[in-house]
Amino acid sequence: MKIGIVGLGYVGLPLSLQFARSGVTVLGLDVDRAKVESLNSGRSYIKHITSEDIAQAVKAGKFSASTDFKHVKKMKAVIICVPTPLNKNREPDISFIVETGKSIAPHLAKGTLVVLESTTYPGTTDGELREVLEAGSGMKAGVDFHLAFSPEREDPGNSQSKVAMIPKVIGGYTPACLERTKAVYGKAIKTLVPVSSCRAAEATKLLENIFRSVNIALVNELKLVYGAMGIDVWEVIQAAKTKPFGYMAFYPGPGLGGHCIPIDPFYLTWKAREFGQHTRFIELAGEINTAMPLHVVNRTAEVLNAQKKSVNGSRVLLLGLAYKPNVDDDRESPTYELMDLFKRRGAEVAYYDPFVPAIRVTREHPHWAGTRSVNWDRKTIGSFDVVVIATNHQSVNYQELAGWADCIIDTRNQMAGVKTKPGQVWKA
Ligand SMILES: NC(=O)c1ccc[n+]([C@@H]2O[C@H](COP(=O)([O-])OP(=O)(O)OC[C@H]3O[C@@H](n4cnc5c(N)ncnc54)[C@H](O)[C@@H]3O)[C@@H](O)[C@H]2O)c1
Repeated sequence: MKIGIVGLGYVGLPLSLQFARSGVTVLGLDVDRAKVESLNSGRSYIKHITSEDIAQAVKAGKFSASTDFKHVKKMKAVIICVPTPLNKNREPDISFIVETGKSIAPHLAKGTLVVLESTTYPGTTDGELREVLEAGSGMKAGVDFHLAFSPEREDPGNSQSKVAMIPKVIGGYTPACLERTKAVYGKAIKTLVPVSSCRAAEATKLLENIFRSVNIALVNELKLVYGAMGIDVWEVIQAAKTKPFGYMAFYPGPGLGGHCIPIDPFYLTWKAREFGQHTRFIELAGEINTAMPLHVVNRTAEVLNAQKKSVNGSRVLLLGLAYKPNVDDDRESPTYELMDLFKRRGAEVAYYDPFVPAIRVTREHPHWAGTRSVNWDRKTIGSFDVVVIATNHQSVNYQELAGWADCIIDTRNQMAGVKTKPGQVWKA
């Protein structure tokens, strides 16, 4: 069987390799020529995906990449994994999905299955995507071609998270579309979870991400409340975690990051308005989580003040630019927000991240492009007035940090197990 996977990023690439490993011939399609060239020569551009895995699939003739959508006509299925960001007014931007639909449609053969995996609001697959596919192909979904939604459940940085073993929710446009989706995904994924419609599958993914956003907001709020009462929220979470039922641990931090949790819930907020519904939990969680970087900066200012220093003129080092530990993904990272806030208050700002040696050009933070991670040595790290731990990568030597830095603001409770001096580490 030959399938096409559109969008070879954090979701599309591991999915392609899983299908390839399962004996399916995969053509990866992407608009980014550099990615296509890199993959065809067996080189990875994502830290947790090895070049060996890609090279092996290419050599076996099971995986190749292209920018040319005309190959779609030979495919039994096409799976779409393109970005779904928010625009500058924090409204859903499904233009990548629509563009992909337009690229696929003229080449769609009768009987082909089209599956959307990008996280989006309920109604995208059987609404906007169906419309562009039908308009561009002259065919009818559910009659001439199959259509389905299946959300991705990738957990970057978690080595235990294997695409094949994560149950996959699938919803078809018609019962026959669902059957076809089962047959295709069944080749590569162990457990399939069929639901009644594309919309139910879209809503499932949103529930999963809203659940995380709301629970992270809850512990972020409790961090402030308990902090004011002189209680350490980290100690409380550790204790609560011992309850064998009815509790799941979430941890506070300097703010939300990544391509999913800060963004996806607002897809529902936007769509819900059409139905006269308000998503109060989502809005409140968003408010609390986006206030976290400011809390960290204010706390740092207090700590510096206690040392007769001001943020203005201080040298501040942000430790960890990626949005979560052990990955190289800096999208939506709260560290950028921290860097902006410190800079606006007159601090001299730098960052250290072993996985992000230099900041790429991004739409959101063009002013940081080209900035390089500082070196990890006593002289460099010791030259900062304060080091703020924003992301706690495992590969960083925190005992060395304690030996080199006089003042550490810890947003991740990372220094709890490290030998430090009194008054050296401050939680935020
Ligand atoms: N990263 C995650 O952990 C994760 C987890 C679950 C779901 N998701 C969802 O999956 C989707 C993709 O996310 P990602 O992290 O893989 O994004 P990504 O930015 O890593 O990859 C998207 C790829 O799509 C390509 N692309 C953009 N427009 C295209 C077009 N018109 N035609 C072909 N290719 C195009 C880009 O060049 C890029 O390579 C999003 O909806 C996201 O919310 C992501």
